[in-house]
Formats: sequence, C-alpha cells, structure tokens
Amino acid sequence: MVASVTLNVQPDSHSLARAAADFICAQVVARPDLSILVATGNTPMPTYSELARRAQAGEADFSRVTAVQLDEYLGVPEDDPRSLWAWMKRSFVEPLGTGRTVRLDDPAQFESEISELGGIDLAILGLGPNGHLGFNEPPSPPDAPTRRLALMPASLESNRAYWGDLPVPTQAVTAGMNVILAARQTLLLVSGAHKRTVLRAALEEPETPDLPASLLRRTAPTVIADAAAWT
Ligand code: F6R
Repeated sequence: MVASVTLNVQPDSHSLARAAADFICAQVVARPDLSILVATGNTPMPTYSELARRAQAGEADFSRVTAVQLDEYLGVPEDDPRSLWAWMKRSFVEPLGTGRTVRLDDPAQFESEISELGGIDLAILGLGPNGHLGFNEPPSPPDAPTRRLALMPASLESNRAYWGDLPVPTQAVTAGMNVILAARQTLLLVSGAHKRTVLRAALEEPETPDLPASLLRRTAPTVIADAAAWT
C-alpha cells in the first residue's frame, strides 16, 4: 500500500459513521466555511445521519458550509425525489443546515462555480463496485473533466437498488477526476463485504485509470472502512 493512505478500519458501519463524522466535524471546526463535495449512495447515509444528529444537538455547525453535488442522473428532473440532487438535499443539506449549495447540471458552469469557490476543501466519496468515484467510470484518467457519460453495466446494476422497479437511468453527469483529485482533503467511505475486492485493488494494485479509485492515492486520502470491507 502507498504510505500516504490513512486507513481507519472500524468494527461496523455504526462506528464507521461516528469516525467519519468526527473527521468531517474536525475539518469544519478548523474551517467553518468549508466546501464539501457530497457523495450520495448508501454508504455515507449513516455518517450524514450522525452529522445531522450533532447539528441538531448544537454540537456542530454547518451553516457556513457549501455542499457541492458530486454527480447526477440525466433525464431525471431535479425535483424528482429519485434525483441525486434531491437525495443530497434531504440527507445532507437540510438536516445539517448547510448555508450554500452548488448543483451539478452544466459541466462548464459547474467547474467555473468550483473555481469561484476556491476549489473543493473536502471530498466525501463512496466506492463504486467497478472502482468508480462519483460517476467517473473506468477508464477515467486523472485529468478527466466534469462531463456527461453513459453508465456501465456494473453501475447500472448497483443503482438498481436505489430505483426499485423503475427503469434505471443510463446517462449521468459527474464531477471530473480533475475536481476530485484537486480536493484539499479526500475521505473515502467503504462498507460491506461486497466492496472488499475492489477496495483491496484500489489501495494495493498499481494506480490505473481502469480503476479510478486507485488514483485517489495521489491525494493522501483518509479511507474509513468497516471490518467487512477490509478483513
Ligand atoms: C453517488 C456516487 C457513487 C457511489 C458509489 C457507491 O453519489 O458518487 O460513486 O458513491 O456508487 O455507492 P454505495 O455507497 O451505494 O455502495
């Protein structure tokens, strides 16, 4: 493994959520106007619930944070509860009370809004079954920009869990690898035995655009995994 990865293995998804919330809260205390790139998906949900609990208990203040959308399906209206924008709003923006948001719609406009913000301070990421970050599907080189793209079969399959019987969107827009790798801090959350093989590869195999998550090692990431995902 590359020495610069900080790997924190927690016994279960509950302690993972507390450890991740501790990490995020420490960043916000150090810099209250943090810009955070926010993954949706199942993995970070317990962490966001823990952050919301702390915000509501007055233990943490996210009112000056900017929440930046990481990825989105194409062809799903923003007010559709199944859109990733709606998911980010109900799981992160509203319960934490973040002051500002940046929505991902037009790739060029998104990248210019990120520049105006002064870049991303913290990227909270999940790990795709094929090693994708956001919807940077393999192969995604380090300079892959924010763009629209077709989702791959492995991603369609994992997204099916979010959509029930409804047809799964096949097109998406994602913050580029350029945006993710330029973040000042990166936090990768990984939970469950089904992520074990891809996590090992991302941390231990040679870096390759064929496994976009392996490129994250360039950022000296903090990886918080539960025991099921690492042992
Ligand atoms: C979602 C996202 C995706 C997920 C990844 C893991 O905004 O960016 O890259 O983080 O597909 O999804 P879960 O956590 O549902 O296993």
